[in-house]
Amino acid sequence: MSYEALTIQRANPRIGAYVSGVNIAAPLSNREISELHQALADYQVLFFRDQHFTLDSQKAFGRLFGDLHIHPNTPGPDGHPEILPIHADERSKRIAGEQWHSDVSCDIEPPLGSILHLHTVPESGGDTIFASQYAAYETLSPRLKTYLEGLTALHSGERAYRRTNRLLNIDDRGRIFPQANHPVVRTHPVTGRKALYVNRGFTYRINEIPEEESDAILAYLYDHAERPEFQVRFQWEANSVAFWDNRAVQHIAVWDYYPNVRSGNRVTIKGDRPI
Ligand code: SIN
Repeated sequence: MSYEALTIQRANPRIGAYVSGVNIAAPLSNREISELHQALADYQVLFFRDQHFTLDSQKAFGRLFGDLHIHPNTPGPDGHPEILPIHADERSKRIAGEQWHSDVSCDIEPPLGSILHLHTVPESGGDTIFASQYAAYETLSPRLKTYLEGLTALHSGERAYRRTNRLLNIDDRGRIFPQANHPVVRTHPVTGRKALYVNRGFTYRINEIPEEESDAILAYLYDHAERPEFQVRFQWEANSVAFWDNRAVQHIAVWDYYPNVRSGNRVTIKGDRPI
């Protein structure tokens, strides 16, 4: 499909595109909406500048792509349970997304995508790095691809969310966090492409092999998945938006700007069970 309503500038051959010529905080035409769906499938993560979202317009934009997800650990502000505030300042002991991950991959039906809007950014630093898991899968050796076929891995929110709560002094005794088994290699429901689907943040172990073997294979796959040549690094400006496909990428937020403020909101779109 060619793009008529959007101006698209590819970030690099493997992942990412800068999208301009559209105001995603306002109602969109059918053509703009279908090109945005296409662009997400084509580029895996889309970057926008100068977008002035309110919580309502950010949610309305998210709903063009599916029902909105409510985070299992972090409730949204009053009246907006679907909003995940992303905030760091001089009092922060942690930030969201400090480790490579695909959002909430511990859910049985993990999110399709996430839309992050930052209204306040540090003078420098605070980038987000995305890595194409299509590229990660496609560059595995044929032998390793065969080995991984049919394997599943356990993903759990226990480690990540318990740590967050401990650092924020939130008493989460008795709480049970989501966990799910997913294929190690998933097939994207829209593009049909295969993507590696294990990440340091949520994956615990590969189920069908001994634990020591799982540890070694996962260590290799994490290093491979995060290789610089699969990445795009986004430098935020105030009112930038990043919209990523959690089925095709993983990402990490770089906390190199302490004690400065970086602040905004994420809307997350519900997804399907990985196949
Ligand atoms: C996240 O959604 O993981 C946070 C990303 C970021 O703050 O850049």
